[in-house]
Amino acid sequence: MDKLLIRGGRPLEGSVRISGAKNSALPIMCAALLTEDPLALTNVPRLMDVRTMAKLLAQIGVEAGTQSDGRITLCASKVKNPEAPYELVKTMRASVLVLGPLLARCGRARVSLPGGCAIGQRPVDQHIKGLQAMGARIYVEHGYMIAAAQRLRGAHILMDLVTVTGTENLMMAAALAQGTTVLENAAREPEVVDLARCLAAMGARIEGAGTGTIRVEGVRTLGGAEHAVMPDRIETGTFLAAVTAAGGKVRLLGAAPDTLEATLDKLKEAGARIAATGDEIEIEMEGRPKSVSLRTAPYPGFATDMQAQFMALDAVASGTGVITETIFENRFMHALELQRLGADIAIQGNTAVVKGVERLQGANVMATDLRASASLVIAGLVAQGETLIERIYHLDRGYEELEKKFAALGAKIERVK
Ligand code: UD1
Repeated sequence: MDKLLIRGGRPLEGSVRISGAKNSALPIMCAALLTEDPLALTNVPRLMDVRTMAKLLAQIGVEAGTQSDGRITLCASKVKNPEAPYELVKTMRASVLVLGPLLARCGRARVSLPGGCAIGQRPVDQHIKGLQAMGARIYVEHGYMIAAAQRLRGAHILMDLVTVTGTENLMMAAALAQGTTVLENAAREPEVVDLARCLAAMGARIEGAGTGTIRVEGVRTLGGAEHAVMPDRIETGTFLAAVTAAGGKVRLLGAAPDTLEATLDKLKEAGARIAATGDEIEIEMEGRPKSVSLRTAPYPGFATDMQAQFMALDAVASGTGVITETIFENRFMHALELQRLGADIAIQGNTAVVKGVERLQGANVMATDLRASASLVIAGLVAQGETLIERIYHLDRGYEELEKKFAALGAKIERVK
């Protein structure tokens, strides 16, 4: 298994191009199931999760054109097997995003329950409840959700909590339903907006994406479209947090600064100078960062997917930062690994108190999930000596060539087999 070897202690300098958003590409790829015409996507990141989704869609019967340069064309002229097997769903929870589109397009679906996950329980009850309100019959048998419906009907759905993929699943299903669907307490994440834009290009009638109430007027059929996937705000935030921790001056190209307000505010509080124009962000950091306290929340609040990276930042900052995780109940595994590097972190329930230390010391650590891996990379970049990160397959799921991008910024980082 691949590992990452980092020799820390160097500032980051230069420019880096941001990839397309994983969390936007995955639902948008599933939208291809809603039409028999081709959906042509650009700015698709080259990631393990994207390959897993392509594999799942291929099993369902979607033909994928050549994938190069971030382009991929998906065509679901026929859906031969409306099923998402356990083997794929267990490696990537976002596989559940085929449920809504399959039900809407072919009136039936068989999708494995995602099961437990390292960062918490992550049930899918809201997806099921919403589809049932739209007239679907869904029951669970041998770990699979078996769903069937004639044509889905528009419904008024109040979601008990804010769920990103839940909102996306229901929005896609509603696009082909009969009548109007209103989703209340919908997720406002930029990736939901990006999906809505793609669906609109396919002929869907959607209002309010990006607000807590989304209104979808169902149409009979959707057609093909071209769509460019939005920039990855979590990848962007990861580089910004790394520069704030390690120091230096970096330009990020092809970013979407307007999706990063909460992150940028906190980085400024930590002492970074940040200027954003158009799709570029310039960040400059000198000296030791100041601790920041934060509380994760649904968008536009502080993203749970940035929490681990900020814990690494607080680990070397001056002062004490209090980090509260409100979205996932078990998302502090990186704290134990950061402690191996000398971080001073005390955890109580969903709160971590991080007392910044002058220096972290390189050590062998293990990545436990995607964003935890990113926090270990940041910690390794600022630690004295060598850090060896194991299990970086987590990192490969969601970051495109992270080590090459950091190496191009002057970091001593390499992949070892
Ligand atoms: C998405 C993102 C993930 C991010 C998360 C929160 C994708 C592919 N993944 O995950 O990177 O960390 O949003 O921003 O976009 N919940 C329920 N019942 C449900 C659905 C969710 O109780 O039916 C709970 C979850 O357990 C969790 C919270 O709601 O505690 C938020 O989860 P959700 O927004 O659904 O996360 P994902 O969409 O899986």
